[in-house]
Amino acid sequence: MSLENLQLQILKTLDAQGEILDTKDFTLEDGTQVDQLVILGALNSLLSREMVEYQSLDSEVWYLTEEGKEISASGSHEVVVFNTIPEGPEGIAISELQAKLGNVAKIGQGKAFKNKWIKKNGANLVRAVEKVEDQTKEDLIVIQETGSHPNAEVLKDLKRRKLCDKQKVTTYSVKKGAKFALTIQKQATELTYEMMQSGEWKNQTFKKYNFDAVGITPPGGHLHPLLKVREEFRQIFFEMGFTEMPTNKFVESSFWNFDALFQPQQHPARDMHDTFFLKDPATTNSFPEELLKKVKDIHTNGGHGSIGYGYDWKEEEAQKLLLRTHTTAVSSNMLYHLAQQPKFTPAKYFSIDRVFRNETVDATHLAEFHQVEGVVADKNLTLGDLIGFMEEFFKKLGVENIRFKPAFNPYTEPSMEVFSYHEGLQKWVEIGNSGMFRPEMLLPLGLDPDVRVIAWGLSLERPTMIKYDIDNIRELLGHKVDLAMIKTNPVCRLDKKMGKELEGEESKAEPVPNPIH
Ligand SMILES: *[C@@H]1O[C@H](CO)[C@@H](O)[C@H](O)[C@H]1NC(C)=O
Ligand SMILES: *[C@@H]1O[C@H](CO)[C@@H](O)[C@H](O)[C@H]1NC(C)=O
Ligand SMILES: *[C@@H]1O[C@H](CO)[C@@H](O)[C@H](O)[C@H]1NC(C)=O
Repeated sequence: MSLENLQLQILKTLDAQGEILDTKDFTLEDGTQVDQLVILGALNSLLSREMVEYQSLDSEVWYLTEEGKEISASGSHEVVVFNTIPEGPEGIAISELQAKLGNVAKIGQGKAFKNKWIKKNGANLVRAVEKVEDQTKEDLIVIQETGSHPNAEVLKDLKRRKLCDKQKVTTYSVKKGAKFALTIQKQATELTYEMMQSGEWKNQTFKKYNFDAVGITPPGGHLHPLLKVREEFRQIFFEMGFTEMPTNKFVESSFWNFDALFQPQQHPARDMHDTFFLKDPATTNSFPEELLKKVKDIHTNGGHGSIGYGYDWKEEEAQKLLLRTHTTAVSSNMLYHLAQQPKFTPAKYFSIDRVFRNETVDATHLAEFHQVEGVVADKNLTLGDLIGFMEEFFKKLGVENIRFKPAFNPYTEPSMEVFSYHEGLQKWVEIGNSGMFRPEMLLPLGLDPDVRVIAWGLSLERPTMIKYDIDNIRELLGHKVDLAMIKTNPVCRLDKKMGKELEGEESKAEPVPNPIH
């Protein structure tokens, strides 16, 4: 019996009888009873369509216990005993009765004696009356048929004898609803685009929302491994007293990205093959006037002991908008603002954010990646301070054994590549880049000549790939990322040792170019 068939039967009955006074009397066409809970389900669905109305009827129903059912079928024990004793003075031997009836003989005898239906004749039992009535059986049959008994005393007595008991039952009285019909129209569960297009929604009836329904547990958010590692880096910087720089803009001018960093306008990094330039808008001209002049001057003529580059610096080149190629574009801006303060205060800045380079995408390179950068500005800082900061920083990352190698970067001097000894590979591997910003960059910004700025950087992807054992960068970032990996990657890892983590490093080409170059 499907739910719909049951509903149709209910509707048919309502149509024929006007109403159903009590669903306890409701039967299917073939006479079978339906569980009241099933009826309730059918009624609720019809109610939501306003096809019926119903009210609950709570009642108590008496029912027979197993023993009660037995007695209603074969008679009470005392009557069975009486009927087993033959008429006449002979009667039956007690032992024979016992053998015939077993337990029933024992219980039945007592009651029959009490009723004075039987008596003893020597070792035999004989009848004391001509016939007996089985009131108990009749009472039980009444209960079985009607669910109750007119005599409350009887019910009480039979309940005490554990032959019957009562239970609460809810049934329903049903009436036709405002939209009563003999057929059930299929209800739409959703208003679709197509329905709105065709106008079909006007003809549709919609299923009502059930706001009491238990909803599906939403599949929650999961942090991407890059975000987890980024958070670890952030915590290290915070522990070391650094402030996070506002890096929330991807578009920069060439001026802040290159010129302000004393990177010449002919530098290959400024080529469209290396940098993404914007088409629309292609340029900006909102620069601090004074700074623009100073930058032009230092590029063209030098100064502060520098001979500059000696070329014709063009403002149009500085106006070009691009997707920042490093977060150092933000650092130069921050240092400029630091220099505008009436009195210099030391600063420790960091940022971890996305940068863009026109790279050919392969297993270890993407056109965008994240740069981790730390910048410290204070008077008379030395290379020793830079080494000290980096040693502390990498130690907090779990890298204890680091070394430095002189390197060249356009806007830092001296510059150092950072290496860590790899136990597995038995060699030194590069883990970052660093340097002291050149005076040609700092002095035009307006910083005090005593102020030195040290900086170091690394990529976020490389340590993340190592920590999460990801070989192909496209599995970490981009449209090929497996969402299951993001959902199931561990909340925390118990990294044994950076040396261990770096194992297999040799097979991975450097995933990203050095953040500072
Ligand atoms: C809506 O119902 C009317 C009357 O039955 C019918 O003429 C019309 O075509 C229906 N409209 C749509 C979009 O199904
Ligand atoms: C990226 O570089 C390639 C050549 O290396 C060039 O063809 C392409 O136009 C560049 N893309 C952009 C958006 O500048
Ligand atoms: C920085 O060094 C210069 C030159 O050695 C010195 O005159 C100045 O007092 C130093 N500043 C600080 C804050 O130590």
